[in-house]
Amino acid sequence: MLQQQLRYLLPCSPTYWIRGQVVMTLLPHILFICLVLALTWAQDHHQHHAAVLDRCKGLEMDAVAVNEEGIPYFFKGDHLFKGFHGKAELSNGSFTELDDHHHLGHVDAAFRMHYEDDPTHHDHMFFFLDNKVFRYYQHKLEAGYPKDISEVFPGIPDHLDAAVECPKPECDEDSVIFFKKDDIYHYNVKTKAVEKKEFDSMPNCTSAFRFMEHYYCFHGHMFSKFDPKTGDVHGKYPKEARDYFMRCSKFSDESDHLERERCSRVHLDAITSDDDGDLYAFRGHHFIRKDNNDTLTSNSIESAFKELHSEVDAVFSYQDHLYMIKDDHVYVYKVGEPHTHLDGYPKPVKEELGIEGPIDAAFVCQDHHIAHIIKGKDIYDVDMSATPRAPSNKRPISLLNKVDAAMCGPGGVKVIRGNHFYHFDSVMLFVASRALPEQHKVSLELFGCDH
Ligand SMILES: *[C@@H]1O[C@H](CO)[C@@H](O)[C@H](O)[C@H]1NC(C)=O
Ligand SMILES: *[C@@H]1O[C@H](CO)[C@@H](O)[C@H](O)[C@H]1NC(C)=O
Ligand SMILES: *[C@@H]1O[C@H](CO)[C@@H](O)[C@H](O)[C@H]1NC(C)=O
Repeated sequence: MLQQQLRYLLPCSPTYWIRGQVVMTLLPHILFICLVLALTWAQDHHQHHAAVLDRCKGLEMDAVAVNEEGIPYFFKGDHLFKGFHGKAELSNGSFTELDDHHHLGHVDAAFRMHYEDDPTHHDHMFFFLDNKVFRYYQHKLEAGYPKDISEVFPGIPDHLDAAVECPKPECDEDSVIFFKKDDIYHYNVKTKAVEKKEFDSMPNCTSAFRFMEHYYCFHGHMFSKFDPKTGDVHGKYPKEARDYFMRCSKFSDESDHLERERCSRVHLDAITSDDDGDLYAFRGHHFIRKDNNDTLTSNSIESAFKELHSEVDAVFSYQDHLYMIKDDHVYVYKVGEPHTHLDGYPKPVKEELGIEGPIDAAFVCQDHHIAHIIKGKDIYDVDMSATPRAPSNKRPISLLNKVDAAMCGPGGVKVIRGNHFYHFDSVMLFVASRALPEQHKVSLELFGCDH
């Protein structure tokens, strides 16, 4: 930042101008202009930074793409938001050269190429800035880049608005869809053929991305899901981007809590089912309840679990009580209408379960007294019928490097990571497995939302 400031102010330094008489007479004017420039710079800079601070206020993103691990990156100005929550960071911290060749500090469009048939481009991230394209592999700019867009993607215009990859069979051929104003270009990766299309029912996208085999066009702080072949938008769109792609404590006023919580792409914090078979899933400040008639309701955590407030780490059910763990503390609620918080709680996790908080996930399987506690890459057993309780039987989890939430029911264990869950017939099989079983979608298969 200092460098940029100096670069900007250098011509305004009085020593720079002091050489000639003519210049001397101009000095007051120049100083005045310099002052105005400096103030303008400070103001721009301030606004620029203030504007990117809070994505929960409804930001228009410049570009969106998933990284090699499938984590979405949202670009705004010279900043980048990684994943669904957390603060903005400078884009050049992750992609150094985006700044070197460019002082604009923004990205027009971005996507990740993910075509196994095409080893040269496979798993590369592409960024578009004005007339240039940058190709990164594992966060490193590749030799020879940036290049002109016209060289790498002949027939595709400069100054794009958005771009998204579209593999077969979602598109007829492995393609990239480019957006500029209301023009749509389908670029065939193999033949380099460009087909110009009109997506009449679609708004002009300011960014676009593919996530869990769905295609999203962002326009302002709204988004629409579209069919990549035809551009058709089905269903109730546009919707608020922050409701589904960001983890916020407050959402837009029109936000439908149930719809949002069912369909959100943000990972769950915790999940459990109680002795009656009612399922509770927690995310940020809200939770969803699914009763055993499959009726879904959503509410704020505050409204049902006041003492806990929000942002729980793990929840398990044991003997008609919900054990809710947040940071270093355990809150215990007796299940009922309303749920009642037990006297004497919250207690330290260490005192209640004998293990240091925070933990990532916890569950009890039916008719057993063992709480299975997942903390980092290990799982522990805590015998709930023992006093004092203590963790035992520590085993490493080899399948996943992080677990967001887990639950156990009559059918076995469900382990949730990101937008997916995995089913295991028993805890033993979960711990002993060497390969991940079939992926299930959380929003679709637990809450019946497919968009
Ligand atoms: C990154 O960008 C910021 C502002 O855009 C600039 O101040 C900083 O020097 C840049 N850092 C690098 C390593 O280029
Ligand atoms: C989309 O872009 C075209 C071309 O610039 C413009 O005429 C049209 O008004 C835009 N549509 C919307 C909804 O902004
Ligand atoms: C659930 O279903 C049962 C039987 O179908 C019905 O008697 C009961 O009223 C339902 N409960 C709710 C909360 O809808």
